[in-house]
Amino acid sequence: MIMDGNGRWAKKRLLPRALGHKRGVETVREIVRAARSMGLEALTLYAFSSENWRRPADEISDLMGLLRHFIKSDLEEFVANNVRLKILGEYHALAPDICELIDTALARTAHNTGTTLAIALNYGAQQEIARAAQAAAAKGPITPESITDELDTWDMPPLDLLIRTSGELRLSNFMLWQAAYAELWFTDVLWPDFTPEHLREALNQFGKRERRYGGR
Ligand code: FPP
Repeated sequence: MIMDGNGRWAKKRLLPRALGHKRGVETVREIVRAARSMGLEALTLYAFSSENWRRPADEISDLMGLLRHFIKSDLEEFVANNVRLKILGEYHALAPDICELIDTALARTAHNTGTTLAIALNYGAQQEIARAAQAAAAKGPITPESITDELDTWDMPPLDLLIRTSGELRLSNFMLWQAAYAELWFTDVLWPDFTPEHLREALNQFGKRERRYGGR
């Protein structure tokens, strides 16, 4: 999921952008619970892109603060509900205390067998593909399969459905390789207004699509 529209949600209400992001985290919590109860095998959330460093320092700091708080406050819920946490992207470039929180959360949920919650942090798909190609080349021939095996998503199921909120029709450097045969679903709903009902609607439509993977 490309969670877009927090800024516009806040602007429409004459609120600071930070409050839009804060509401965005509440949506994250609801959507993770919904994904779990619907039995989704994996849910990936684009929380911070490698390009988001271009945002003003105070906004970056707000987002990092929310991330810190989210991991601290929600880890026990993941542990209790068999959620396996995973991070896509080069998260070691984040603040050392956040890396520590992440490493603890990864270790505590590593053996969980329920929904995998992947959070993309300092993530860019082109960077991910370049890293994967380099790792694949170090081991042998570069093939689509050998690259796939080195992506950050190497231990996740194939991407079936990619959702973007807020009306923008772009992939913005998110899971470009994995999206090769994914179904795309766009909605005008802004991320803070996105509900489990919207997720259900997207999944229903997904269920009706005929996927041919290039065949016929
Ligand atoms: C897009 O809104 C959203 C983001 C850049 C970040 C998404 C982050 C969160 C929902 C909160 C942090 C996440 C976690 C998992 C703790 P935008 O600011 O680009 O909105 P706009 O396009 O309307 O300005």
